[in-house]
This record gives sequence, structure tokens and C-alpha cells, in this order.
Amino acid sequence: MKAIIPTGGMGTRMRPLTFTANKHLIPVANKPLILYAIETVADTGIKEIALTYNPGGLDIIKNFLGDGSKWGVKFTYILQENPRGGLSNIFQVCEDFIGGDNFLMHLGDNIFTGGIQNLYDHFMKKKPHGLVGLVHHPENTRLGVPYFDEEGHLVKYVEKPENPPHDYAVPGLYFFDNIIFKCFKGKDKIVPSARGEMEIASAYQWLIDHKYQVDTLEIEGAWLDPGKVQDWLEANLFLLDLNTKTKINSNLDKTVRIHGRVTIGKNCNITNSHLKGPLNIGDNVTITNSTVGPFTSVYHNCMIIDSTITDSVLMESVIIDKVRKNIENSIIGPNTNISQSDHSEHYCELLVSELSKISL
Ligand code: G1P
Repeated sequence: MKAIIPTGGMGTRMRPLTFTANKHLIPVANKPLILYAIETVADTGIKEIALTYNPGGLDIIKNFLGDGSKWGVKFTYILQENPRGGLSNIFQVCEDFIGGDNFLMHLGDNIFTGGIQNLYDHFMKKKPHGLVGLVHHPENTRLGVPYFDEEGHLVKYVEKPENPPHDYAVPGLYFFDNIIFKCFKGKDKIVPSARGEMEIASAYQWLIDHKYQVDTLEIEGAWLDPGKVQDWLEANLFLLDLNTKTKINSNLDKTVRIHGRVTIGKNCNITNSHLKGPLNIGDNVTITNSTVGPFTSVYHNCMIIDSTITDSVLMESVIIDKVRKNIENSIIGPNTNISQSDHSEHYCELLVSELSKISL
């Protein structure tokens, strides 16, 4: 069994953050998004993982992730020429890598908090030709919707239907055996949809139409799909609440008050401040005369001085300096500097790039 984790895509729904960063490397609860997928796949025991990328996208991902040895797996980097090629096109370009084996594809921007072991075990034991995960989702009209019979076999997979018969959706986790590569060949091969993509739904529908068994199985735990800014912020809060453990890796003096679960990385310099969990603080963070948290993540190398921050995300190397108003429900991108202007009664000074959102 092998695995594919895509790291490409346009990231348009995550702008402006994705103007300068690959969506998969944006931190969720202080951990780059793609690491959740890698850890989940590595936990099943799979050893060979293909990471697909789009033109221009290799270096940043490869420099960050390396050869996989950190997770006890081997990474193979594979180019998907067309970033809008669709999910089926992603495993199509991995046919040589799969080499006759079975595989799963775990989207690089999906998080399964309960892991995927139950689906992996089902697929290995029952050996269907395909398997999809099931989740309940209140807005499944914007997702793929599975239709299945009493035995749980998939009978139809419809992409974003207007009137779905139930609240089930298919998350970004797909299992196939090697038969699936036939769907790209021959007279009845699958073709791009109206939105121009080789849909994952078309590949499953091909299996169903050719009488190959496709199973469905509900996932365990929560499914987080931080593809849009709002969903990503919610995932951040959810994971901070779920995973934050009290773990303090820096020396703190008596002037620091801590309430709740707080994780603090290495080499932090925190003085005369109040930290409220769940709160995750990375490495080399300076906090002085401030109140930080709850539900806040502060990435490496940030500096917070004389300020109050709650329900927010600070990415790498953010500086918050003597801001008099509380900062709440905010996402602050890397290397941003927010400070109080001396003339703030009368005007403010802004250097803001495209699609930023400021509420004063
Ligand atoms: C894709 C799939 C869809 C699935 C979803 C999960 O949707 O096409 O079937 O439910 O991922 O995230 P897209 O993100 O391309 O709209």
C-alpha cells in the first residue's frame, strides 16, 4: 500500500495568506497544515508517500519536508503539470510510482483528528476496488456527496448536488486498488467535468459503472477542512482546544501568570505577562507586559509588547507593539508589524497589501 498527498493547488480561497505562502505550509494550531496529513498517513504504517506539486512548487515543499526519514517514510516528489487538473489527475500522474500497488490519497489540506486507521484496516481486509470515507456535514452541497445501498456500497458519487438526500459528504480521503488506472484509458475513459477538472467523483463513478465494488465507511473523530479562511480559523481554535498540553520549554520568571493549558517553545523571553490557555507559543517568542490567549497561537519569533490578544493567530515573526485596543479574532500574516501610532487619536498609518481586511 502506498499513499499520495497533494501539495499543489492555487490556494485562492486562502488569499491573501497564499499570495506569499503555499497553503499546505500555513500553520494550524502552530503546526504547518501538511504535517497533519503526513503524520496521519505514517501512523497507518505506510512507508512510501508521493508528494505531488505544481510547476514552481517543488523547492519550498522539498526544503521543508526533506526525504521523509523524519517520519520513518520515504517521499517521492511528483510533478502535476496542471494545477487545475483535478483530484483524479493527481493520482493519474502517480501511476508509475504506484506501480501495480494499492494506494490511498489524503488531501494535504485535510485533517482527520481521529486518524484513518479504521478505513485503512477495512480496505486491507475486505479488499474492495475503492473506498471512500464518510462524514456528516451541514453544507454538503459544496462537497462530494455519496449515495450508497444498505450494505454501504457506493452506488453514485455526485459532486456538489443541489438537493442531497442526506447530510453525508466525502472528505478528502480516497482508497483505490490498481484497477482505477483503467479509467484513464480506452473508449470510455473519464473526461474533465464542466469546471474543467478530472473529478474524483468521475473516477469512482467509473468503478461503479464497471461493476467494481466501492465501499463507504464513516471516519472516526472530526474532519477539518481548512480550505477557506473562516474554516481554517475554526480548525485552529478546535485543534488548540483538543491538543494543547501544558508543556513549558523556556525558563519563566515569577512575573508570568499562567491559567489553563499553555504550550511554550524554546528560548522564549516572557516577563510580566498573563498567559491564558488554550494557548500555543512557538520558539524564540518575546512577550512583555501583555495578556495573551485564550484560543491563540503565536508562531516562532514573534514579539508582543504591552498588548492584549485573544482568539487570534500570529504567524512567524509578527511584532505587536504597544497596541492599546485589544486584538481579537485576528489572523496576522508573517513578518507583519503592528504598533500604536503616536497620533492615533487623529489618524493611523497603514501599509496593507491586496485583500487585507482591517477593522478599526
Ligand atoms: C474535493 C472533491 C469533493 C470532496 C472535497 C473534500 O472538492 O471534489 O468530492 O468532498 O474535495 O474536501 P473541491 O475542494 O475540489 O471542491
